Amino acid sequence: MLIEILLLAGAYLLGSVPTGLLLAKAAGVDIRTTGSGNIGATNVYRTLGRSVGIATLVGDCLKGLLPVLAAKYLGMTDIWIALAGLAAFLGHVYTVFLGFKGGKGVATALGVFLGLAPLAVLIALGIFVAVVATSRYISLGSITAAAAMPPVVAFLNGRPPLVGVTVVIALLVIWKHRENIARLRAGTENRFKA
Ligand code: G3P
Repeated sequence: MLIEILLLAGAYLLGSVPTGLLLAKAAGVDIRTTGSGNIGATNVYRTLGRSVGIATLVGDCLKGLLPVLAAKYLGMTDIWIALAGLAAFLGHVYTVFLGFKGGKGVATALGVFLGLAPLAVLIALGIFVAVVATSRYISLGSITAAAAMPPVVAFLNGRPPLVGVTVVIALLVIWKHRENIARLRAGTENRFKA
């Protein structure tokens, strides 16, 4: 069990690395003071453009994917594999390096689920793209895709550890979008500009 605990701690620390904040800092910007103030790929894209935004997306995604792949490679059981993903996600959302104030977790969740349930990701991505294409709200696409994941994973997979972790991640993603939800309701949310 020691190796499992170490993997969880490592996953949390890796998830805690604030990719967007660091990339923006390298470009001379404190991402927490511009746009939505979020450290995620959407706000980095909004502030610094496509290449830094995509680099943030890839970096945050890998933080979720790598611990899941490591747990699988080490032959861990379903529960530990799912917990490794959850630990990485919690690291991003409640990062130890920023006083436990992190991002909204969408890209890291994407990486976690690419490792845990790739077919469910395909469906959620389809929902995300459809919602963003029609509304041009990234936040609405993220919230809708997050809400869709628990039933999709339950239907496709059904294993309790995976479904449980999916519910926790989906609820936290939606909770972290509460300011976006308020802006969507007020009609003041930022629309995505490609
Ligand atoms: O992944 C975060 C996205 O859904 C919203 O980002 O910067 O518009 O709050 P932002």
